[in-house]
Amino acid sequence: MRDVDRPNSRSGQIYQRARQVLPGGTSRSSTYASPHPIYLSSGHGAYITDVDGIELLDFANNFTTMIHGYANPIIEAAVIEQVKRGSSFGFATEHEVELAELLRARVESIDQIRFMNSGTEAVMHAIRAARAYTGRPKIAKCEGAFHGNYDYAEVSLESGPDNWGDTQPARLSTTKGVPAGVLDDVVVIPLNDVELASQVLEASKDELAGVLIDPLANRAGMVPATAAFLDMVRTFCTANDVVMISDEVLCFRLGFGGAQTEFGYQADLTVLGKIIGGGFPVGAVGGRSEFMRVFDPTDGKPDMPQSGTFAGNPVTMAAGVASMNLLTLEEFERLNRLGELARNRLRDVIQAAGVPGQVTGLGSLFRIHLTERTLHGYRDAYPTPEERENLNKLYHYLLEHGVLIASSGMCALTTPMCEAEIELLAERVDDGLASLP
Ligand SMILES: Cc1ncc(COP(=O)(O)O)c(C=O)c1O
Repeated sequence: MRDVDRPNSRSGQIYQRARQVLPGGTSRSSTYASPHPIYLSSGHGAYITDVDGIELLDFANNFTTMIHGYANPIIEAAVIEQVKRGSSFGFATEHEVELAELLRARVESIDQIRFMNSGTEAVMHAIRAARAYTGRPKIAKCEGAFHGNYDYAEVSLESGPDNWGDTQPARLSTTKGVPAGVLDDVVVIPLNDVELASQVLEASKDELAGVLIDPLANRAGMVPATAAFLDMVRTFCTANDVVMISDEVLCFRLGFGGAQTEFGYQADLTVLGKIIGGGFPVGAVGGRSEFMRVFDPTDGKPDMPQSGTFAGNPVTMAAGVASMNLLTLEEFERLNRLGELARNRLRDVIQAAGVPGQVTGLGSLFRIHLTERTLHGYRDAYPTPEERENLNKLYHYLLEHGVLIASSGMCALTTPMCEAEIELLAERVDDGLASLP
């Protein structure tokens, strides 16, 4: 059992050093925790171990990235093989071509692809590509949806009841000091409100370069985009020569062909990340050749020159090929069946506990909400202070009893898991709910 408040723990001691050299003691806001972050020493299969030797069954897996868990022997072998040959070059390698071919074969709307180093970078390049393609400045995104840390993609990310506006979602910056021009060039639409979103898009259609959509936006509650909403966006983009961008950095893991195949739409550009790098830093933008042409230097300077010292890094590409090859149709079916089991077990546990709660998500992704409100999108999923506190208590209860989920309540399954891990999660959540006031 973990006692996170132990100042003499090894994590506590490392934190004292770390806070001198890293603001908050880590390089990511998301890995900061009070009274101190947890520092890890290793991970194997579905478990991670911290520097105090405490093991956690990991349902967060680096925010859904580590779909094969830790130290998968096949990925490990591919990585070691490439490291021995050289970890980074100023030329491309065949692994890059192989990963591009593999992804193209899985996603119908992808003819060509470009690799980058993170989802943030890929979203940024997708937005820049949409602007280069259309010659227009603005981008539309859903209220509350997270698309990484690019200024334009962050607009309205943390809007709340005090400032989100009555009807049309307010354009609010998340980071202090963002130039006003950024807000002028972002249009915010409400997820799943077809009528209002369509009105807002229509009003800006002459200046819009792209509409950025995540069909299972975690920060908007992991509530699936409705078919009517996706249809409206697709029809609007086609009618107005606006680029439809599908951000599947997180939800590409929904199935063999990614989220578009599961939801039944085709985007113009698709942003990928997380699982396609086999546990190494990665991002990618793919799409029809017509849209990807803006990246192409064959006939001289492209409309959208994109570069990057580590773009298409051979170790990442080798790990990505190994990771994706392990994700067969059968493995996705198994993982998604487990996801369904997990959602159902947690729903049963919540109901039996008699606490307000529900579980959203699809495939191998799910999120626990301690509210009974019907969730249509960001505003309904936004927790009240009491709901936030209860979720926080549940999160800490689980952490102290050997199970890691994201503090938002989000969970993701990994291929080393089976029914036993789901049962353990359900049992711990059951106990955790019983401990709530
Ligand atoms: C939907 C979505 N887009 C973009 C990003 C940014 O990716 P990265 O953290 O690799 O920069 C994330 C990260 O969680 C994400 O969930």
